[in-house]
Amino acid sequence: MPAYCRRACLRRATCSCLIMFAERTKWNLAPNRLSQALARHRAAGKPLVDLTASNPTECGFAYDQSAILEALGNPAALKYEPAPRGLTSARQAVCEYYAEHGAAPGVDDILLTTSTSEAYSYVFRLLCNPGDEVLIPAPSYPLFDFLAEIQDTKLVRYPLLYDHGWELDFHALEQAITPRSRAIIVVHPNNPTGHFTRRPEMEKLNVICAARGLALIVDEVFLDFCLGREGPSSFAGNRDALTFTLSGLSKTCGLPQMKAAWVVASGPQELKGDALARLELIADTYLSMNAPVQLALPSFLARRWTFHEQLMGRVRRNLAELDRQLALQKICSRLELEGGWYAVVRVPATHSDEEHALSLLNDLSIYVHPGHFYDFSSEAYLVVSLISKEEEFSTGMKRILETFAVCAQ
Ligand SMILES: Cc1ncc(COP(=O)(O)O)c(C=O)c1O
Repeated sequence: MPAYCRRACLRRATCSCLIMFAERTKWNLAPNRLSQALARHRAAGKPLVDLTASNPTECGFAYDQSAILEALGNPAALKYEPAPRGLTSARQAVCEYYAEHGAAPGVDDILLTTSTSEAYSYVFRLLCNPGDEVLIPAPSYPLFDFLAEIQDTKLVRYPLLYDHGWELDFHALEQAITPRSRAIIVVHPNNPTGHFTRRPEMEKLNVICAARGLALIVDEVFLDFCLGREGPSSFAGNRDALTFTLSGLSKTCGLPQMKAAWVVASGPQELKGDALARLELIADTYLSMNAPVQLALPSFLARRWTFHEQLMGRVRRNLAELDRQLALQKICSRLELEGGWYAVVRVPATHSDEEHALSLLNDLSIYVHPGHFYDFSSEAYLVVSLISKEEEFSTGMKRILETFAVCAQ
């Protein structure tokens, strides 16, 4: 019995859609309604106020171009030196990065990857047999579904609770653990809620993981982007449970195109050593890091503050503008946030968040993400990017709030 593609082809016998692919790739590849509407909008050449910006290289930040290009031109890159964990000089720079965050991983605790996404795949490969489970927070980052599915790993969601701030629902988290659970993912700070995991929560996570033989996977790509005065510490120094801390250049330096990230292993010594040896073999199989970027990585990290300063300035100004506009009305509000690049706006639940996003696009030419992209519950949440250009952000938010005000009348 041949397998057929999901597109219910009618010409079964001669169908060119006859498939020979793995079940795990049986995705519904049809674009969702919002993506279709966006494509139509763009094809029609209509103007667009895009409040979903997430690519820092397209947000008008000034990069030190000559320093970046100079760092990439290191003559040492002319020699191939295979290093499964990554070049020592690059890993040393990552150690220095963590020293600024109150953690002191050793050079050999670090393994470089081409992206945080690749780091996830290595760690899933290390921990999970097909069908094993990893717990993820909800709401959170939408790419987890694909990252896990490609590695035959099953995701199980645990809820985050909101009450003037976010916290982990430990009761629900413990209920969600099964004999197939292998790890708990924490995003610190979370995307898009922008909240950090607090120390008491970290301690509780350690107790749960140590007691149940689970690993912690901590995504810290937004760790540097804290709105408070004191930056929260990194999980890279966590020793009470086997912990994999993930981050990379795409957010810390605003250089997603450089494709460089890392995983730091910490935890009980013996477990950590075993994990690293196995991860090293996974990395050795691909040797995916390229020499020029590894050699440039110390320079990129050392210079990240000029980017950081611009980005945080933008985030603070957009947030202040959002608050100023919200204070002029009572229909919409925003959820508390402590860091990251996004704000979550609560709007009237008169329609689904998808309907709201579609109307904003079709009627006002404003593009926002509906909360369900991030696994928000059924209430109406819209996610807006605080790294959007300021004028665009201000105009877009003004039109959005005016529209909801008119609808409420
Ligand atoms: C929480 C989170 N983790 C990971 C990534 C991806 O990082 P990378 O570009 O290193 O794969 C993103 C990108 O937006 C993200 O929001």
